[in-house]
Amino acid sequence: MEWFLFALLFYQISFLCSQSLPLLLLVSFDGFRWDYPKIHGPLTNFARLERHGVRAPSMIPTFTTSTFPNHYSLITGLYEESHGLVSDEIYDRRSNEIFRSWESNSSQWWPIKTIWSINEQRLGARSGVIGWPQKFIDVSKSEVYREGRSFKDIVDQILRWFDDSNEPINFGAIYFPEPDLTGRRNGPYSLETKQKVKECDDNLGYLLNEIDKNVKLKNNLHLIVTSDHGMEQVNATDRPMYLEQYVDMTKCKAFGTETTLNIFVNNPNDIDAIYRNLSKIPNSNTYKKDQLPDQYHYKTHPHIGDLIIILNPGYELHRLSFDDGNTVNLSRIHGNSGYDNQLESMKTIFYATGPELKENFTLSNSDSLHSVDLFVLMCLILNIGKCPSSNSSATHIQSFLIDSSKVASIIGKETEKLHDGPMGLVLYLLVLVSFVLILIMAVAWSTVAFRNASAMARAAHPDAATLAEQNQYKFTQINDLKLHPAIGDDNL
Ligand SMILES: *[C@@H]1O[C@H](CO)[C@@H](O)[C@H](O)[C@H]1NC(C)=O
Ligand SMILES: *[C@@H]1O[C@H](CO)[C@@H](O)[C@H](O)[C@H]1NC(C)=O
Ligand SMILES: *[C@@H]1O[C@H](CO)[C@@H](O)[C@H](O)[C@H]1NC(C)=O
Ligand SMILES: *[C@@H]1O[C@H](CO)[C@@H](O)[C@H](O)[C@H]1NC(C)=O
Repeated sequence: MEWFLFALLFYQISFLCSQSLPLLLLVSFDGFRWDYPKIHGPLTNFARLERHGVRAPSMIPTFTTSTFPNHYSLITGLYEESHGLVSDEIYDRRSNEIFRSWESNSSQWWPIKTIWSINEQRLGARSGVIGWPQKFIDVSKSEVYREGRSFKDIVDQILRWFDDSNEPINFGAIYFPEPDLTGRRNGPYSLETKQKVKECDDNLGYLLNEIDKNVKLKNNLHLIVTSDHGMEQVNATDRPMYLEQYVDMTKCKAFGTETTLNIFVNNPNDIDAIYRNLSKIPNSNTYKKDQLPDQYHYKTHPHIGDLIIILNPGYELHRLSFDDGNTVNLSRIHGNSGYDNQLESMKTIFYATGPELKENFTLSNSDSLHSVDLFVLMCLILNIGKCPSSNSSATHIQSFLIDSSKVASIIGKETEKLHDGPMGLVLYLLVLVSFVLILIMAVAWSTVAFRNASAMARAAHPDAATLAEQNQYKFTQINDLKLHPAIGDDNL
């Protein structure tokens, strides 16, 4: 009998732990330019988010404004030079290996701890990730990207994970490839993109309605709706430019996108000659690595080339040799990203709602939120005391919170980490005390539950109450059974 009670208590504790964890869902619509709601609106459901939560008029992505690097910045809080995923295509000079985001499946390219694995370091906490543009995802529940999967299907799956009665997630992240795909094919101002943006708005509406119908999530879930970068109009067939026309490709290697290229020089003596040649490419800027403007935060990592070519908005530089000689079908390209992250066309969206966040609050126009800042916001929402140091700033984030004093507490903890000695012990004691408190809470909860049950029984039938007092453990079980069928099932 005692072991049974002990087991019951343990279930209650871990259940209470998972119940008290904050809930957060991160949603990324790829390539959602900041002003789509203006130029393709009105968007009913984005407006609904705006009324119920916080938003930034626009958000600045990390340079190089590409899908894989920016999605990694969102969940690590790091600039690309710090997380190392400096492009959708990367060259590692030391190992002579090439990473192509869309085909490479080696974990070495994803070395940084992400917000979802940090979340899982706590008792009862679980993360679930669907389709995120990242090949190695080490969390409780994940499903890889599947081309053509509907948004509705993705939402149904992630909400099932939040609702799981045995192993619920408390953090979810989902990715949808539109309106990026349509924006690239047809350009940001096209009718096709307008329709796709409306479709994304309908998809968002489906998500919001499903959340509203869900008792557990309706008032408790934090929702962040964002994207990786904007979209620029390009006219690729107008004046196609090829790298091979400007430089002797036996003397260097090129990696990256048509809008930002990393050039690795084979012989250091050739660097000036190659630099001079690359500088002649029209509508572009070529920099030596150490001369790149500081604002790009794109200098220090060995994955960054000796020379970097950045195209002006609307232009592309192609490679004849790209993809084993298959040339790109330029007539299919009318939009692109990967340009300077300060450009208006590269900026993207940020919306968030939830119990810790203000309602109907828009960051003033002069403020510019950076996508790396979302990391601190997620740490705060998830109540992660000790978030790893990153390039995430709380300056703008704190104005989103109802209780902005929370920011001071997380910044305080970051400083404490520098002096690890006695603080470690204090933290340990805090954890111990919380554990004991939870234990007491669990016992108190059971007692209250029993009292309620016996009071109800007394009201209904006086004799039953006496019976209940004689068999109090049984009543506690029955009560648990009603409240939490999963616990009951496991024990009966
Ligand atoms: C630079 O361009 C000139 C003229 O096209 C070419 O002859 C030369 O080989 C190029 N040099 C390098 C290092 O690519
Ligand atoms: C591309 O074409 C559009 C539409 O014709 C035009 O408005 C835009 O200026 C062009 N962009 C460039 C970079 O040539
Ligand atoms: C939201 O804020 C705007 C601007 O401050 C205000 O005009 C509007 O009435 C507010 N809407 C609601 C529903 O509170
Ligand atoms: C970004 O954060 C990393 C990790 O804390 C740090 O090493 C790097 O210096 C930071 N970069 C900048 C520009 O502050």
